[in-house]
Amino acid sequence: MPPHRQSVAQNPSDSTRPSVVVNMAMTADGKIATSNRAVTSFGSPRDLRNLYRLRSTADAILCGARTVEQSHATLGNGGDEFRRRRLRAGLAEFPLRVVVSGSGSISPDAELWSHRFSPIVLFVTERARPRHQQLAKRADHVWYCGIREIDFAQALKRLTADFGVRRLMVEGGGEVNDALFRAGLVDELHLTVCPFLFGGRDAPSISDGQGFNRLADAAPFRLRSCRQLGDELFLVYDAVRTPLPAPAPVR
Ligand SMILES: NC(=O)c1ccc[n+]([C@@H]2O[C@H](COP(=O)([O-])OP(=O)(O)OC[C@H]3O[C@@H](n4cnc5c(N)ncnc54)[C@H](OP(=O)(O)O)[C@@H]3O)[C@@H](O)[C@H]2O)c1
Repeated sequence: MPPHRQSVAQNPSDSTRPSVVVNMAMTADGKIATSNRAVTSFGSPRDLRNLYRLRSTADAILCGARTVEQSHATLGNGGDEFRRRRLRAGLAEFPLRVVVSGSGSISPDAELWSHRFSPIVLFVTERARPRHQQLAKRADHVWYCGIREIDFAQALKRLTADFGVRRLMVEGGGEVNDALFRAGLVDELHLTVCPFLFGGRDAPSISDGQGFNRLADAAPFRLRSCRQLGDELFLVYDAVRTPLPAPAPVR
């Protein structure tokens, strides 16, 4: 096995934070919604089952504010079959729900707030102080996790310390994913490649935000499995903790 393949972190050696699994559906051109954000869901029923199956392995689910608003996500357990799976695996009936909204701008009308099946933890920064009262009415816990940006390393440790979260599933969007990739906190990446092309430079992708500017800094992954089911590809990657060797340039 090449040396760069030896430090795959399926389970982080650091047990003080959860292992982090990102699951996303994307088009063949890597988009996760159309540029006008009107289409946010485009996977097959099989992809949806895959999402619920993954949820049933996680103590908690984390999403960004825009995802919660635009996809009307409630972050539930996916129904009876998956609830039973959770119980068999020794997990709570419903996952803990974690929402990221640095400025606290998340809409008070988001559908999530009207489903009270499990606690909702809101990660905010000091920028959200002026909105505290309104946020505390909706979220069960409002955690201040940074001055301007969320300090995810600390925030995830607190999820483990306070709620015993060992496995966290992240369901986007692109901005939240990017922050987690840049912080080196993603252990597994599950991607469903769906048979569409959305195009559009403003359409979100699986990792937006700041990104990386040098290949040497890019988050490296190793492909663990690739299954074709119907017209979709189900890819699973593991994080590699040491950089991969640079590819030879095309001449
Ligand atoms: N195809 C799929 O699998 C999939 C999955 C998920 C989402 N989506 C789609 O993707 C779109 C949303 O993606 P998005 O990238 O626009 O938004 P997003 O990541 O869901 O949410 C962005 C918001 O989260 C907060 N945030 C993110 N990173 C932060 C950080 N490091 N520090 C502080 N706050 C942070 C900010 O909230 P504040 O503005 O409140 O500060 C930011 O505006 C939606 O259209 C959704 O439907 C598709």
